Amino acid sequence: MTAAALLEVRDVHRDFGGVHALSGVTLQVARGRITGMIGPNGSGKTTLFQVVSGIDRGATGQVFLDGEPILGLRPSQIYQRGLARTFQLSRVFPQLTVLENLMVAGHRHDRAVRERAIGLLEKVGLREYSAVAGSDLSYGQQRLVEFLRVLMSDPALILLDEPAAGVNPTLRNTLWDMVRHLNGQGTTFFVIEHDMGVIADLCDDVYVLSEGQVIAHGDFETVRGNDTVLAAYFGKTAAHRGTEND
Ligand SMILES: Nc1ncnc2c1ncn2[C@@H]1O[C@H](COP(=O)(O)OP(=O)(O)OP(=O)(O)O)[C@@H](O)[C@H]1O
Ligand SMILES: [Mg+2]
Repeated sequence: MTAAALLEVRDVHRDFGGVHALSGVTLQVARGRITGMIGPNGSGKTTLFQVVSGIDRGATGQVFLDGEPILGLRPSQIYQRGLARTFQLSRVFPQLTVLENLMVAGHRHDRAVRERAIGLLEKVGLREYSAVAGSDLSYGQQRLVEFLRVLMSDPALILLDEPAAGVNPTLRNTLWDMVRHLNGQGTTFFVIEHDMGVIADLCDDVYVLSEGQVIAHGDFETVRGNDTVLAAYFGKTAAHRGTEND
């Protein structure tokens, strides 16, 4: 593998009965970059995150984090090695306060953990919500809190599964600003996102998945112009492109 890859996925397969959710996926997430993953519904994006983070342990192939094989390790072991993630559906603990929702990621009685949590809440304008129950937050606020919880462990690699879906534009901007800021400080991201504007703006490198396979890879402009991608993802062919105004 190239030394620059923080995450490398090699020929990963995952079947669910007759469904080939992943059919030989090979890709690399470069260290210090923001890599995007797009693809139609059901193309295997979330499944890949489940496999890479150790939650789904039914795949074959190889996965390397910082050069070390991680396929088959438990989620907690992978987390300890510096990979953290968000989920496609929000996982804020409804009965815990916002502050507690962050502190579950560390040793609760540690003062440094508490200070880090408060610092993160302050950064996104949620400090005044510290004592509010998770269930009393708006959906967008819950997504943001979930994202902050991921940051508590200061991971080297963060996987985001459509983190801004259903989030209002203001909080969405806060989230993406935070991603940009952290990336500037060296954190590597691997992001599933349907919003092409965000992908174009944020990602150095984009993978396109379709039916469990990588069908294109490159910078956004390259990927967007790929005929297979247009057909599979945007539902149109090169011949139709001339008729579009966008
Ligand atoms: N636990 C599971 N059991 C059975 N089939 C599954 C399971 N998880 C995923 N699949 C199937 O695998 C395929 C890929 O699903 P996946 O959720 O990875 O897609 P996705 O690209 O994340 O889609 P979306 O954009 O809708 O989130 C789908 O056909 C899905 O129905
Ligand atoms: Mg998904």
